[in-house]
Amino acid sequence: MTVPIDDTSSAAGTAGLTERIARSLERARTRTQGLTGPVEDPDLIRQHSPLMSPLVWDLAHIGNQEELWLLRNLGGREPMHPEIDPLYDAFEHPRAERPTLPLLPPDQARRYVHEVRGRVMDLLEQPRWGDEELSRGGFAFGMIAQHEQQHDETMLITHQLRVGEPVLHRPAPPAPPADALALPAEVFVPGGPFTMGTSAEAWALDNERPAHEVDVAGFWLDTTPVTNGGYLEFIADGGYDEPRWWSQAGWEHRQNAGLFAPLYWTREGEQWLRRRFGVVEPVPAAEPVVHVSYYEAEAYAAWKGRRLPTESEWEKAARHDPVSGRSRRYPWGDDDPLPQHANLGQAHLQPAAAGSYPEGEAPSGARQLIGDVWEWVSSDFLPYPGFVAWPYREYSEVFFGPDYKVLRGGSFAVDPVACRGTFRNWDYPIRRQIFSGFRTARDGVL
Ligand code: AVJ
Ligand code: FE
Repeated sequence: MTVPIDDTSSAAGTAGLTERIARSLERARTRTQGLTGPVEDPDLIRQHSPLMSPLVWDLAHIGNQEELWLLRNLGGREPMHPEIDPLYDAFEHPRAERPTLPLLPPDQARRYVHEVRGRVMDLLEQPRWGDEELSRGGFAFGMIAQHEQQHDETMLITHQLRVGEPVLHRPAPPAPPADALALPAEVFVPGGPFTMGTSAEAWALDNERPAHEVDVAGFWLDTTPVTNGGYLEFIADGGYDEPRWWSQAGWEHRQNAGLFAPLYWTREGEQWLRRRFGVVEPVPAAEPVVHVSYYEAEAYAAWKGRRLPTESEWEKAARHDPVSGRSRRYPWGDDDPLPQHANLGQAHLQPAAAGSYPEGEAPSGARQLIGDVWEWVSSDFLPYPGFVAWPYREYSEVFFGPDYKVLRGGSFAVDPVACRGTFRNWDYPIRRQIFSGFRTARDGVL
């Protein structure tokens, strides 16, 4: 049996590319303003956690990367303020050290990003953008729209860490459909080869490339991400005190860090509460669990007699269409995400109840693979066969190796432009300030 390698049709490259770019950049900027506008200057400058940058660093870094890639590298323009470049180079200064730097104050940072954007819109209107490779399919613009959205998610993580009056407000996600409670606990993904990664998606980042065939044995996968209710059973059964559920590294970390529940959870009598963007509320049982580390996900899966899916299993469940034999851009097909497909774009400030978004269902029957929570998978962050670092080594290549675990699918905090069936995120297995959850899998036949 042969599998067509990456005949995925891509929305980029069709008519209206300039408009698509302008809309993507503008949507990112609206979100950036929503995350920095309602925050007082001292709160923009302060570091809310050593894990995160001051919000004002993210803001100017967004502008600096946009200037670097679109105005200089693509358009060939001269640097606007070369003296600030080192301040906003993520590799020169680790996050913990950023509050001590002579950063642009909030008003200057706002003026800088605004000026850069004005010049970028002028460039976008030009008949030729510059460097041919970076121009192809509008890649550099798409990369920068994704970069800003990624930092918007980073800033949302900082908002969640921030203590104080809530400043962000969003409606709750829609109620789950009537069938949510009647869904089978797991779905079967049949064995066989499928196309992993992409060579055709114009705005795909280097680590998603190239498309290649992977043979995956049949396996069972949870229909939805693991819920708070499910996770509470693990806690109630003493899961945090039972070393046999944990890997050696996981148990060591559980001991050293004193883990006892997901981040932001506290217990009051019999009741579990959580803090969510400044509001303390009872933990909702039906919602996918969020703010767990890889090690906690791994321990829960072992307690269930199951395991985390591998990255290729996850992608096959999300993209493979057994009827056509080809891989889709998304679980529901090739169309860009709409609000009825997935909980994306910070439309809501929490995951939706398990079983939501029936229109986003994959052919396998799995739901919520895209949106809601990032899903830890068991694989290390490694290059695909044929990987080429592009356009810069520091996006992916320097992170490849056993130190980082992969997360898939995107959270409620991810914009559609930075989310696809092929998109790969990664982090240290101890991290849980991110919007991370998981689902479990097992070997088996139908
Ligand atoms: C892909 C989310 C791990 O935030 O460190 C932002 C994205 N790279 N600026 C990160 C990124 C450069 C990256 N992650
Ligand atoms: Fe960045």
